[in-house]
Amino acid sequence: MFVRNAWYVAAWGTELDDGLVARRICDEAIVLFRTNGRAWAIEDRCCHRAAPLRLGQVIPTGVQCGYHGLVFDGSGRCVMIPGQDTIPDNVRVRSYPVVEQDQMIWIWMGEAEVADANLIPRFPYHDDAKNWPHKRKLLQVKAHYMLIVDNLMDFTHLAYVHQKNFGGDPEGHVVAPIQVVDRTLRGVRFTRWINDRPPPPTILNAVPFKGNIDRWQDVEFIAPAAIVQKSGSVDAGTGGRDADCSQGGFQARLFHGITPETENSSLYFWSIGNGHRTDDPSATETLFQEIAGAFEEDRVILEAEQASLSESGEGGLINVKSDRTRLIARHVVDLMLQAESGERKLAIA
Ligand code: FES
Ligand SMILES: [Fe+2]
Repeated sequence: MFVRNAWYVAAWGTELDDGLVARRICDEAIVLFRTNGRAWAIEDRCCHRAAPLRLGQVIPTGVQCGYHGLVFDGSGRCVMIPGQDTIPDNVRVRSYPVVEQDQMIWIWMGEAEVADANLIPRFPYHDDAKNWPHKRKLLQVKAHYMLIVDNLMDFTHLAYVHQKNFGGDPEGHVVAPIQVVDRTLRGVRFTRWINDRPPPPTILNAVPFKGNIDRWQDVEFIAPAAIVQKSGSVDAGTGGRDADCSQGGFQARLFHGITPETENSSLYFWSIGNGHRTDDPSATETLFQEIAGAFEEDRVILEAEQASLSESGEGGLINVKSDRTRLIARHVVDLMLQAESGERKLAIA
């Protein structure tokens, strides 16, 4: 079951530069494309003989089916039937509201009349290459999308899953962090401080800190499936989060777009904006490679968790203190699901 009245990342904007992109989102087959500078999404099933439109091609007027050549525009309307002059009104496929913003293609999977572009999570750093040069990746994870949200809502896993890159140090990550949690209108936000601890390998590779650091992570979950993360580190005792990072600290901006593909698989769109040595592309590349390695570690454990849950279900599982933020995130998503199913007349706006 998925929240449908919501915006999900369907593609990076640049993916549409090369023609059709086929995706499965909320278990619906979709093709995305761009014509006349505008992005569109329609169902990946021709209304003639059900051939997948992904086997067709983008032409200036829309997508041409690869079987008998019918053409559908971005609204899903058929605009050309080879060998036939008239086109009945009912010759169409479903279209989805789409917005291209912050270099991402956002899709609304629910009722088109309530799609409000103002609800799309923002990540302005993608358009600020001078201050935040970034790299991005799409990872397929064979796990329910809420398992990825869980993972990002509980950073105590850094101590154990990410020992070789930006984690390790259970004392710092699990015992010592100071964490403040705020429920927001559309999700939950938390900030963690890990003060006066040794830098993990990834941060040390980026900035040659001489001793301990003060480190912080601001994380905002915007339900159902986007997370904006701001992370930074400075020499311990030099001002913490308010310190001037241009004087040698480490800063990063991460976007996590977690799009349900099927019940047991997800499309994980992530990007890392680099805030140190911003004029040196190798600094961004190194950070990207470190993070990519870490998220691969997440993928391995998430897929193993999903396999275990698929086999044995949720029965007997317990919650511990560090589950607090992920439980709030799950509660917000549950409210959205209830609102959609009519169990609860509540609009999460
Ligand atoms: S199936 Fe698409 S044109 Fe025939
Ligand atoms: Fe992780």
